[in-house]
Amino acid sequence: MTRFAEGRKLLKARFMELREQPSDYRLGVPQPPLEKPHPADALLVDLPDPRAAFPPAVDLFALLESRRSRREFSPDPLRLEQISALLWATQGVISVIRDGFATLRTVPSGGSRHPFETYVAASNVDGLAPGIYRYAALKHKLIPVSNPPDLATSVMDACMRQEFVFTAPAVFLWSAVPYRSEWRYGVAAHKTIAQDSGHLCQNMYIACEALGLSTVAIGSYDQKLADELLGLDGDEEFVVYVAPVGWRNH
Ligand SMILES: Cc1cc2nc3c(=O)[nH]c(=O)nc-3n(C[C@H](O)[C@H](O)[C@H](O)COP(=O)(O)O)c2cc1C
Repeated sequence: MTRFAEGRKLLKARFMELREQPSDYRLGVPQPPLEKPHPADALLVDLPDPRAAFPPAVDLFALLESRRSRREFSPDPLRLEQISALLWATQGVISVIRDGFATLRTVPSGGSRHPFETYVAASNVDGLAPGIYRYAALKHKLIPVSNPPDLATSVMDACMRQEFVFTAPAVFLWSAVPYRSEWRYGVAAHKTIAQDSGHLCQNMYIACEALGLSTVAIGSYDQKLADELLGLDGDEEFVVYVAPVGWRNH
């Protein structure tokens, strides 16, 4: 056993253990909602058609070849149709299947559990008042969450003060709602959730490349500050990944 044993355990498959410790799904516990419910009186923000922002044709080889982590953002505002396109590319719902058992989305997810919520900290987006929003993926709309003072500084602080984060007109923060996967896969869920998060961020990179935007995956963030910023309890829901977005500096 090394000092890393506990961490390495996360990387290992635990599906055999489900035979001894059946998941809530196997025990017949009702499934949790496909996404976090929003207050009935929430004023949802309509999003433009996500197709509008994408170029009609892309050279996939060139796009994959040119993909890079980009940490420079021009001060120009993003357009709401670009936010719409990125939300759709990373978590967009294509269909709800088996009478509400699962969603099929633009990214894969173990058992199609899709255990994530998407938050956008918008500092400079045309058509969107500055603030934090949550993506209502099933409706393809935004739910206003809060408008903290000094938003760009708070997001940078939550990202271990990586300074380029401050200059991004929008920052995507993804939280995990682990029970959505634990319900199905019990102790085997956590590796699946980690694998799933890579898929959504990779789609963010590919979509940004197609749209001519900059983005970079952020894994170095302050768990407590990030959860507090979004008002999450840090247990049933907590931040797992962050990505700032903006126009490239020309
Ligand atoms: C899981 C993960 C976490 C990362 N965290 C950060 C980060 O906190 N800050 C940062 O500047 N880059 C971060 N990166 C970006 C990597 O530094 C980058 O992918 C790597 O240098 C290779 O460059 P490329 O993406 O252009 O191929 C992260 C990338 C991944 C996949």
